[in-house]
Formats: sequence, structure tokens, C-alpha cells
Amino acid sequence: MNGYPPKVARNPFTPTFGVSPPVLVGRSDLISDFIDALEDGPGAPGRMTLYTGARGTGKTVLLNEVEDAARRLGWRVIAETATAGLVKRMITEHLPALLRDIDSGSDRSVVTGVSAPLGLGGATWETVAEHEAAPGLRNQLTAVTELMASSGTGLLVTLDEIHHQVVGELRELATVLQHLVREERQIAFVDAGLPSAVSAVLSDDVLTFLRRADRHSLGPVPIDDVSNAIARPVREAGREISPQLVASAAAATGGYPFLIQLVGYHIWRQQPSVLEISAADVEAGVLAARRRIGSLVHEPALADLPGVARTFLVAMAQDDGPSRMSDIAVRLIVDGNYASQYRLRLIATGLIKPAGHGRVDFTMPSLRDYLREHAVLEARPGLPAGDAEQFDIAPD
Ligand SMILES: Nc1ncnc2c1ncn2[C@@H]1O[C@H](COP(=O)(O)OP(=O)(O)O)[C@@H](O)[C@H]1O
Ligand SMILES: [Mg+2]
Repeated sequence: MNGYPPKVARNPFTPTFGVSPPVLVGRSDLISDFIDALEDGPGAPGRMTLYTGARGTGKTVLLNEVEDAARRLGWRVIAETATAGLVKRMITEHLPALLRDIDSGSDRSVVTGVSAPLGLGGATWETVAEHEAAPGLRNQLTAVTELMASSGTGLLVTLDEIHHQVVGELRELATVLQHLVREERQIAFVDAGLPSAVSAVLSDDVLTFLRRADRHSLGPVPIDDVSNAIARPVREAGREISPQLVASAAAATGGYPFLIQLVGYHIWRQQPSVLEISAADVEAGVLAARRRIGSLVHEPALADLPGVARTFLVAMAQDDGPSRMSDIAVRLIVDGNYASQYRLRLIATGLIKPAGHGRVDFTMPSLRDYLREHAVLEARPGLPAGDAEQFDIAPD
């Protein structure tokens, strides 16, 4: 705009985990379902929502969206990640800060003794019994919802990367939330995690409450939406790209949200100071994105798997499309039963999906390419039977 040499517009794409994209696509139904649930009042099922999806499907970004939507409706938000100390952070940091903030803005002082703002149970409320399980947590959450009630809004708690490692704290939180829901308080809870991590959490008996959440698995975004997510940021940042090139860039993403950003980013950076994006830019950008997706997404996902599961995937990668389970068993030299155990476990990771009778396919086609290019993973015949037991998946 001003200055010399002419300023090159900043690359608008955001190929970074947890960073909201310039144009978010394909999730508007999920977002409006959640908004409806807030507007419908206590008891609306969508007030307990769970998003699952592989690394890079946009879970964190979607949590950010529902948080923003809730704030626009006047709700308060506590956004947390499921790591050790979660409950303590809520009791000693988020909730006291929120209570001070809400209370200072209202005439009515419900809070009677915030004498030790950072101490466990430092705040006491006249209306709330002090001897409940997790007293700090339940008392403070109750107080927040009571303070919010007059405005007809409430509190949204979001929890990212839920994982079995913190199941004790999740249980504590779930128990309290369950009470608040039963009391028809204005509370909403949205959590997100990798499919395998979520199944591990939900298999815990005490967490039946969380199992009742509205569960959505984040799949690929429709290609038409992807076109918007690529074209609009380019044009809004002042450059041009033809509809045909947009379509071919969009197709190359397979609808996978992280690839939308990665492909867009690398296309843009080929010749950032040239107004119109060329076919060569798109070709080179797609190639660069494909090269990086392996180390950014596939490698960490594969590293979380036991060897047998990786070998299973390598066996699948021999096929150009969906694989027949009978072929996989033959390639692995195992019986059908054993192969089907791994089928289930791999489906739980979100890396593969059922594809019609007796068939499975990759959720992300680029994983097939990655495995073919990195065939260092030997197809190991005669697998040990006991390996099926160890299948712990780390959070992303
Ligand atoms: N709906 C979407 N449309 C466009 N880009 C998206 C969308 N969802 C996520 N992204 C992009 O994908 C990447 C991964 O998103 P993130 O929320 O971190 O995924 P996850 O938490 O599932 O691993 C980020 O770069 C983000 O900007
Ligand atoms: Mg995330």
C-alpha cells in the first residue's frame, strides 16, 4: 500500500494445529446445532457435545468456534485441555477469576467469602452445602450458574484432547456436571479428542454420563466447501486464482481440514509477489504439502501404534482402493479372527474406516501414499498373538 518495494501480502493460510483458519468451512451445521442447544434451554441434548476426529480434522478449531458462539450469546466460557491438574486449575484459577468478574458487575453479592482467592474452597456461598464431593468444584460451578441465571445465560466448559490418562479428573468433573444438569442449571459441556482416546475414556464405567453426550465425528469437508476455503482467503488477501485451479487444489486436499491450510499455504508461497496464481504454483504447492503431511500428521499417528497395527496398514496400502479383510489376513499370514481384532482397533484410531462388507479403507487417502513411499515398515509375517493387547494411543 505504502512504501517501496511494494508490500507482499501476508500468506493468509494457517497450517498450524490449533490456529483458526482464515475461512472455516463444513462445520456450520455442527455450530448451529450447538447454538440451538444453548437457546433451547436446560435439558437440550446438544448441551453435552463430544467431537471426535483424527489429528488435523479441526477439533480444536471447532471448540474455539463454539466458544465464540457461546460468548456472543452472553455465555461465559472456561476452555481447558485434559491434562493433569485440570480440576485444580478449575477450582483455583478459572472459577475464582470468573466469579470475581461476574460478581463485580452485579448488584447482588452472592459470594460471601472470597477470602483466599487462590485457595482450594476459599470461597463459600450461603446457598451451597460445603460437604459435597469435590466441594470447590461443585460450589463454584453452582455459584457461577446462579449468578448467570438472571441474564438467562450460563457457563460453557470446553475440554480439548480428552484422554484416559486423566480419567480420574474427568470422572470428578463429570460427576459434578451431572448434578448441575439434573438441577437444570444453565451449563454446557463440549469436549473433543482422538477417536481411540475417546473410546478409552468412554469405556470407563463411571463415565456413563459423558457417554450420553451428542457425539459427532469430524469427517472430511465437502470439496465445494474446500474450494471456498481456498479461494476466499486468496482473493481477500488481494491475489487471484482461477476457478479451475481452485478446484484442482481443493481436490488435492481430499477434504481433510489440515491439508486445506497446508495446500493453500504452499500454493501461495510459490510466487507471493505475483498477482495471479498459476497452474505451476498449484502443482508445486500441492506437491510440497503432500511431502509435509507425512511428517506432520502421518508419522506421529503411526508412531502411536504397535508394530502389528502398522504392518496391517502397510498391507492395506498395497491396494489402490478399499482392502478386503481376507486379503489382509493372507498378507499378514494370520487368521481372520486375529486380523479382525486389529481392524476394530484401527477403526477406533480413526485411521481406517469400514468400506462395505468385509472391506476397510484409509480415512485419509494420503496415508496410503505415505505408507507406500515409506515402505521401510516391513510386512512382518507370523505375528505374535499377545501384541493385540497393547494399544495405547497418545493424545495429539
Ligand atoms: N473447518 C475447517 N476449515 C478450514 N480449515 C480448517 C478447518 N478446521 C481446521 N482447519 C485447519 O486445520 C488445521 C488443524 O486444525 P485443528 O483444530 O488443530 O485440528 P485437530 O485439533 O483436530 O488436530 C488448522 O491449521 C486449522 O486452521
Ligand atoms: Mg487439537
